[in-house]
Amino acid sequence: MRLLTPRGVFRPRSDAGMLIDAAREHIRGDVLDVCTGSGVIALSVAPAARTMTAVDASHAAVLAVRLAALLNGVTVEVLRGDLFASVAGRTFDVIVSNPPYLPTPAGPSARGSHAWDGGHDGRTILDRLCREAPAHLRPGGDLFIVQSSLAETDRTLAMLEEAGLSAGVAAAHHGALGPLASARTDHLRAIGALRGPGAVEEIAVVRGRRQPPP
Ligand SMILES: C[S@@+](CC[C@H](N)C(=O)[O-])C[C@H]1O[C@@H](n2cnc3c(N)ncnc32)[C@H](O)[C@@H]1O
Repeated sequence: MRLLTPRGVFRPRSDAGMLIDAAREHIRGDVLDVCTGSGVIALSVAPAARTMTAVDASHAAVLAVRLAALLNGVTVEVLRGDLFASVAGRTFDVIVSNPPYLPTPAGPSARGSHAWDGGHDGRTILDRLCREAPAHLRPGGDLFIVQSSLAETDRTLAMLEEAGLSAGVAAAHHGALGPLASARTDHLRAIGALRGPGAVEEIAVVRGRRQPPP
């Protein structure tokens, strides 16, 4: 697959691959990728979908995905907007997302930080996804979100359950902190996201399922 990652467009990491692998067998019908970045997830799963829609807040990402879709001969509707604003009133069979989830101290933004800065506790976008995604999921539909344990995976599970989905961890991988998190260990320890001597995190793919119709 040909992806375009000009300046300002997030270069995919292994968490995107985890999400793709976990979601692949469940892809069907109308699919939405929120926080699409380079479109790596949308372009990977689009062949198994009836329709594929991808959303990002970044103009550069939207242009990159539109061009990459053409280069790869894949049909994707690419929209710019804040989370679900550009798909208001629409519902999907599957929603996938790799949102910004890194706990980040307040202060001047680093270049490209909109792609990974999850706010003080990493949950600024995650909490909104948990609150807003269920309304866009059809009965029997699946939501897949990838995130780090540094941003409280249990809270995602609890919020999805509160929203009426059945939630669980579909895939997980323990490993050393990535470079962005490694550069923020003081903040991670200050907020209690890192405990003990090791600097490890668990990347998890959370699956939330809306009950199928009776
Ligand atoms: C961690 S990157 C993931 C990109 C891609 N999905 C991947 O797996 O490589 C997060 C993406 O979310 C986008 N984003 C951040 N805040 C957003 C928001 N409020 N609404 C839509 N997209 C947003 C960023 O522009 C960035 O492209």
